Amino acid sequence: MSYLEMQGIIKSFSGVRVLNEVNFSLNRGEVVALLGQNGAGKSTLIKILSGYYNKDGGKILINGEEVHFHAPSDSLARGIRVIYQELELFPELSVAENIFMGDLPTKRFAGIPIRQKEEIEHRAQELLELLGEQIDPAIPVKKLSVSEKQVVEIARALAKKANIIVMDEPTATLSQKEVEKLFGIIRKLREQDVGIIYITHRLEEVFTISNRVVVLRDGKNAGFFDTQDTSWQELVQAMIGRSLEELYPRRTSTLREDRIMLRVDNLDIPGLLEKTSFELHEGEILGIFGLVGSGINELALGLFGALPIRGKIEMNGQTISIHSPAMAKNLGFGLIPADRKQEGIIPELSVMHNITMASLNNYKKRGFLRRADEKTCVCEWVDKLKIRLHSIDQPIKSLSGGNQQKVVLARWLATQSKILIASEPTQGVDVGTRVDIYNIFDNLAKNGLGIIVLSSDLPEVLALSDNILVLEGGNIVGRFTKGEADEQTILYLAMGGKEKVAN
Ligand SMILES: Nc1ncnc2c1ncn2[C@@H]1O[C@H](COP(=O)(O)OP(=O)(O)OP(=O)(O)O)[C@@H](O)[C@H]1O
Ligand SMILES: [Mg+2]
Repeated sequence: MSYLEMQGIIKSFSGVRVLNEVNFSLNRGEVVALLGQNGAGKSTLIKILSGYYNKDGGKILINGEEVHFHAPSDSLARGIRVIYQELELFPELSVAENIFMGDLPTKRFAGIPIRQKEEIEHRAQELLELLGEQIDPAIPVKKLSVSEKQVVEIARALAKKANIIVMDEPTATLSQKEVEKLFGIIRKLREQDVGIIYITHRLEEVFTISNRVVVLRDGKNAGFFDTQDTSWQELVQAMIGRSLEELYPRRTSTLREDRIMLRVDNLDIPGLLEKTSFELHEGEILGIFGLVGSGINELALGLFGALPIRGKIEMNGQTISIHSPAMAKNLGFGLIPADRKQEGIIPELSVMHNITMASLNNYKKRGFLRRADEKTCVCEWVDKLKIRLHSIDQPIKSLSGGNQQKVVLARWLATQSKILIASEPTQGVDVGTRVDIYNIFDNLAKNGLGIIVLSSDLPEVLALSDNILVLEGGNIVGRFTKGEADEQTILYLAMGGKEKVAN
């Protein structure tokens, strides 16, 4: 019997079963990866473990003894700690105060006595050092980077004597270096005898960090594996119920050499991006690779008029100016933003309205909205992107995280733009849908669209692009055509390696 046992867990939302007799177990000192497609039930299972949702059936046992979690505090009291994607820190308070939150006098906002302050800062320092981190415990959390905030959350979990730490897609917003740092921390936690549940859509991470893998499919167990005895293919098969021969489409380039859609000349975004020049042809997929923080996100926003830009842009031979997203949209640009959680979703609105809000004009005739057309379009994209839902009228906030992201993707694909700017298009999306998205891009290019894919996923950029630019520190540090691109060189350049700078 394992330290934690979840047995036969059942959960329904408004009569729909989303967890069907799910079993899960975890020992202290091991990392178990929890895998499954978007909507498979991973976050729901975790929310039951954390006392956030009540289960409808099944048992949770810790050390062989049945426990009943009616509220998050019950689960916390048993040493279970979830690090959520939306980090739950107090930005104005110091690192140390955040770590020992709850152990402090209730009037903490009014100020802590000096001696106690020194003491908690000292203890915070010890914990951070245990995790191999150098963060000043006295500075306010709002001054930290995302990955440092994550470390503070983990230190807070340790301070609360966590036996089990759950990480739900912790690396979605981290750079490569930060991911490696997180893995170092996870190894240290394992040495501290903490059990870790690790949720991700990146299979390479599963193989790097986990000891075992539990796969869910449609709210049911779909497989239990020892990481060292399994393979990429086997896990994908368990997740999607069929094998995937190819993750990436075999593209034959549809780039029209003679048709330049976009010519960007010395584009500047003050403080963020310098002298960026490139061309985009009809039927081309241009990949722009950069690590998190390299400027890829800013470039996408700048081209779409959401950040002020300087420089010259020509579209089909005519100089254009883009000062706002509305202007960009009128010119035929579409943007799939990277930060789909922040920028993309209107939580209370239905899935349908979240999809069609950027393309309403397409369903209008003589000023009247044709609901039937709107609905047809929505259903088409729900189908193409395999968005998992009960009804297109349900509020988007009731979808799983990944399915919400797909809705934002659908919104911009539905606008029928001529130039599509896609920033991290497959982040948070499961492997099956990834393949669908790649095929959609391939088809759009075949139909003459120009597509700019800005991504920190190198295999994705390599597989999709006709041409590749590498961005680092707001500068283009490399240019490659499909044939000459090689993974090592690109990564080297993206990480700030000098040499072979082609600008
Ligand atoms: N509060 C809720 N109300 C109604 N349905 C919900 C609610 N929370 C989750 N669901 C549904 O439960 C199912 C499982 O969702 P869950 O968030 O657990 O998926 P997930 O495996 O975490 O997916 P992802 O990889 O996209 O994060 C989905 O079909 C989702 O729509
Ligand atoms: Mg989830």
